Amino acid sequence: MKILVTGGTGYIGSHTVVALQQQGFEVVIVDNLSNSQADIAYQIEKITGQQPLLEVFDLADREKTADFFKRHSDIKGVIHFAAFKAVGESVEKPVYYYRNNLVSLMNILESMQENNVQNIVFSSSCTVYGQPDELPVSEMAPIKKAESPYGNTKQISEEILQDFIKVSNVHAIALRYFNPIGAHESALIGELPLGVPNNLVPFITQTAIGIREQLKVFGDDYPTPDGTPIRDYIHVVDLAKAHVVAVRRMIENKMKQNLEVFNLGTGKGYSVLEVIKAFEKVSGTKLNYKIVARREGDVTQVWADSSFSNDELGWKAEKGLDEMVASAWKWEQAYRSR
Ligand code: UFG
Repeated sequence: MKILVTGGTGYIGSHTVVALQQQGFEVVIVDNLSNSQADIAYQIEKITGQQPLLEVFDLADREKTADFFKRHSDIKGVIHFAAFKAVGESVEKPVYYYRNNLVSLMNILESMQENNVQNIVFSSSCTVYGQPDELPVSEMAPIKKAESPYGNTKQISEEILQDFIKVSNVHAIALRYFNPIGAHESALIGELPLGVPNNLVPFITQTAIGIREQLKVFGDDYPTPDGTPIRDYIHVVDLAKAHVVAVRRMIENKMKQNLEVFNLGTGKGYSVLEVIKAFEKVSGTKLNYKIVARREGDVTQVWADSSFSNDELGWKAEKGLDEMVASAWKWEQAYRSR
């Protein structure tokens, strides 16, 4: 069974390609390599023994997208990761973000309809909840006004799906990720941020390996037990597996509505200082960090109510924080010694 994974050479995409192949799916990747490298397809082959087909083009190009779907009309499902994801950059370049993230989704949906491809899994984010009024946050929680154009593209994309499923044969599952971290146990694939990392864990591992001098902890005056913000960190391999479950659910006609939304988190929150402590413990290193002012736009705390995805999908995140940071560290070391 053939699955299209857009953004399949990226961080979550590559881990999902591995999970799909290991479950017997044939994978075709479309990626414009704007934030990843073609050699990921070889790294994937080292893990699974199969090299996924990779087509390099931009899904914001309507003609190329239409042509691709004509040639691959036997696709049974699409997992759509391809998008820009840097919050700060989206504030600087809003139109660039809206065009890329929204036009590519619309092109894919139109081509799916034209070729009777019915199933799409969409990468959404817990960012749609903003700072939730109640924790843990469930899928029923209200959507808050987006803090950034990036966050807004996720909200608008969910709305586009909501409207489109009413007038087409397309069914959709939106997966709202909490904070994906870690890497495949083989250390052959992992997160590869371009330039200075925005996210906590790549910044930690790059500091520990000596590429960054010091981690800045953005604020310790939040109303949390140790003063630093709390997030629901989830191992990328657990996250990847949820995509396989979701795509199977669609193919096997087990959906209860034509658009379903699931939180993908562990249900447990950790503060920034707890993540640092876990890293120091598993790596046996002392991290150079200092507390600085808050980062604009950061919420105080958010963690998932994952009961709906656990019950409905029969999926549960299995890996704990130590395993997550240990795998991120193993990946950083393996990558830098290549
Ligand atoms: N942090 C630091 N120093 C850093 C980087 C991060 O202290 O150098 C802190 C942040 O302030 C935050 C925590 O680490 O408290 C996690 O930050 P990340 O940037 O790793 O993750 P975010 O929770 O900010 O971002 C995630 C997703 C985004 C999404 C956003 C919405 O990565 O895609 O949630 O809140 F938009």
